[in-house]
Amino acid sequence: MLPKFSSPAFLAPMAGVSDPALRLQCKKMGAGLVVTEFTSIHSIIAKEKQFKEKMQTIREFIEYSDQERPLSIQLFGSDLNALEKAAKIVEPFFDIIDYNMGCPAPHITQQMAGGALLQEANLTQQIFSTLVNAVKKPVTLKIRSGVTDTSKFLFREIAEIAEDEGIQMITFHPRTVSQGYSGHADWKMIKELKEISNIPIVGNGDIVTPEDAKTMFDETGCDYVMIGRGAMGNPFLFEQINDFLKTNSYKEYSFKDRLDSFFDYLHLTNAYKIKFANIKGQAMRFTKGMKGGSKLRSKITLSKNTVELEKIMSTAYSLD
Ligand SMILES: Cc1cc2nc3c(=O)[nH]c(=O)nc-3n(C[C@H](O)[C@H](O)[C@H](O)COP(=O)(O)O)c2cc1C
Repeated sequence: MLPKFSSPAFLAPMAGVSDPALRLQCKKMGAGLVVTEFTSIHSIIAKEKQFKEKMQTIREFIEYSDQERPLSIQLFGSDLNALEKAAKIVEPFFDIIDYNMGCPAPHITQQMAGGALLQEANLTQQIFSTLVNAVKKPVTLKIRSGVTDTSKFLFREIAEIAEDEGIQMITFHPRTVSQGYSGHADWKMIKELKEISNIPIVGNGDIVTPEDAKTMFDETGCDYVMIGRGAMGNPFLFEQINDFLKTNSYKEYSFKDRLDSFFDYLHLTNAYKIKFANIKGQAMRFTKGMKGGSKLRSKITLSKNTVELEKIMSTAYSLD
């Protein structure tokens, strides 16, 4: 069974972005569910072997804190044996196992993973059945609509197979794989998926304001919404969405609040082994739209460690 979610607004899995520090921040700001970035089933198996020898667990590889719960781990990879093994390794640590069938990056689709699987009905049926039988925790799915414009309705068949095999929730980003992030997410497809499904549907794509979230609920009837890019450097969005859905109003945050929030993020990163390049990326996002932001960002790019980055970010308070 799916856990109870404290809010209908979820944070999207984002490679290099949804690290444990940002996830915790979004959780504290009211995200109902947070998801790890996608993780290769093969790397989980390899790491577990290494860690076992040192009496450590996979938690050294996929870092998180219990405050993030309910916490979903997203897996990718289509080798059925490896999938079963990896799912069993991570199951004790996570509340939901999510499966990625949306990633458009060529290095993923070329290994018959991510969005490429949308056109492989037989294999996906086996993947879902393997996962659902391997673990007792709920298994969920994240998909795009199809691969190319001519196959943009593949989601209909995949969703049906998923439901038949016991997948408990589907997150839907209604763009094709070949679209990447261009154009718009076609929310009408979310409405269609909701109408043909008997499991909860999470609508995803192009939500950047609380108003967008409400519109997606109203137009599609989806059960939950998931936010990716709109939450980058902007964890306040979850509180704003929750408030807007309840009261039709929400608190605005200033650039100073955003900077404070970046320093909270930086502080949280101390507890994890997050790559410095990713932390720099977050600094860039937290300064988006700020007066003097582009100058600041060229300095951020050159910073070599967190001490330097902290100094640069402290100067931003006088810019606004
Ligand atoms: C930098 C970045 C990394 C992403 N990584 C993942 C990922 O690991 N797994 C996944 O399912 N989707 C990933 N996505 C897609 C998002 O989860 C989401 O579906 C997409 O960005 C659309 O939502 P949005 O318009 O709210 O950003 C990523 C997106 C971005 C921008």
